[in-house]
Amino acid sequence: MDPHVSLGGRGEFAAQIYRQIRAAILDGRLAAGERLPPSREFAQRLSVSRNTVALAYERLTAEGLLVARVGAGTYVCAQRLAGPGVAPAPRQSRPGPAPASRPVRPREIWRALPPPDRRSPTPLRYDFRVGLPDPALFPLQTWRRLVAHELRSTTIQSGQYGDPAGHAGLRAAIARYIGVSRSVNASAEDLVITYGAQQAVDLIARVLLEPGNSVAVEEPGYPPVRALLRSHSARVVGVPVDCEGIDVSAIPASARLVYTTPSHQYPLGTPMSLARRAALLDWARSRDAVIIEDDYDSEFRFAGRPLDPLQSLDRDGRVVYVGSFSKTMLPMLRVGFLVAPASLLPALRTAKRLSDWHSDTTTQAALARFIDDGLLGRHIRRASREYGARHRLVEQGLREHLGQWLELVPSVAGLHLAARHHPHRTSPQSTLAMDDVVRRANAAGIAISTLTETYADTPPQPGLVLGYGGIAQRDIMPALHRLAGLFA
Ligand SMILES: Cc1ncc(COP(=O)(O)O)c(C=O)c1O
Repeated sequence: MDPHVSLGGRGEFAAQIYRQIRAAILDGRLAAGERLPPSREFAQRLSVSRNTVALAYERLTAEGLLVARVGAGTYVCAQRLAGPGVAPAPRQSRPGPAPASRPVRPREIWRALPPPDRRSPTPLRYDFRVGLPDPALFPLQTWRRLVAHELRSTTIQSGQYGDPAGHAGLRAAIARYIGVSRSVNASAEDLVITYGAQQAVDLIARVLLEPGNSVAVEEPGYPPVRALLRSHSARVVGVPVDCEGIDVSAIPASARLVYTTPSHQYPLGTPMSLARRAALLDWARSRDAVIIEDDYDSEFRFAGRPLDPLQSLDRDGRVVYVGSFSKTMLPMLRVGFLVAPASLLPALRTAKRLSDWHSDTTTQAALARFIDDGLLGRHIRRASREYGARHRLVEQGLREHLGQWLELVPSVAGLHLAARHHPHRTSPQSTLAMDDVVRRANAAGIAISTLTETYADTPPQPGLVLGYGGIAQRDIMPALHRLAGLFA
């Protein structure tokens, strides 16, 4: 890589080049072993004579900072000479603010939002983290083959920007897939491919919300979407969920948007009843509101038949259906989609285009093939058998080992289960006690979460959420046995 050198003033160019390369070596921007550009090329780029660059290189070589290898070029020395002239300078990533100026600041809301956790999690012996599929089940060989195919020069062809709505083949494949498996009414034209469900909600919020608009979310609910909606300056109101789903009578009349997870409520896992679905659609019609139906993990279903999605029950074009491949494939692929009514689609496509033009084409094309060749269906059937077995083991273990403290919330789909602290044992201290259980579980090598963090407006119901995407069947019982020891 060429080091950045800026030349100013008149003359003394060799000294300026020498000083700037030296500083780059000493503060680590130029690493040991890195090759410098040949003096002739570098001189051309800097519009100086070759001799000027050669002089600077010679001086640095004499100081032991560069080494010239005959026929191979000039390199940063692996072992820099220490000495008074070459003391390493601490690297400053950016100049600090001038004393009189104040640092630039984001809008106030960004201070209130939880910052992302950037540490890689320390792997614990037993992993009940929520929302993670098992990477070992991912059909890596097949995926590698499909991606390699899409990267062939004939496939790359123009390498130009694509359609903001997404790869046409993928939209068609998803429309067919969700039509058959979830009875969602959609054609390829109704879809926009996004970077995960999270971006789908972001685009919807961008095209619908004015600052200060009310948005109803489920309580307990999915914290990343709540935070996202707050970042749009929406007034986010948590609406309680009961055993039939969101309590429609408690949705604020002013809500412009309702975000809900009817197939598999996050985090409780209960499906929204048919009666509640009808009531929610009626409510949205009477209030001129829009519903986001987040169907994030219900492909993994272990019993019973799914109820019709709100999207297919909707007669007024009020529902935006959101899906994700984070569970069925891998979260790192960042593929999701939305199915929107015709009245919103042009704005949503524009929002996607303004945001990032379109999602990565190689991944989209490979996924289209994966679906069209029947591989997604096969993978989901295979993974469902494994997750179903884990689901039953967690249910059984919770009953056998933790039944006296925890009450399982019935659920037949997805990748996690929730368990409430027994209502008759609940006290004001229970929430605290659950936080304490989680802390002690972590110390005992068990990664697990409380229900508490999924509440924001109403008093939290004490309990735990157990994901089983990251834990092998053989580890489930020993982990729950160990967990029970922390309650006793
Ligand atoms: C409720 C809910 N929605 C959506 C997602 C998936 O989000 P994304 O597609 O952005 O990875 C998750 C992931 O855990 C989730 O729990």
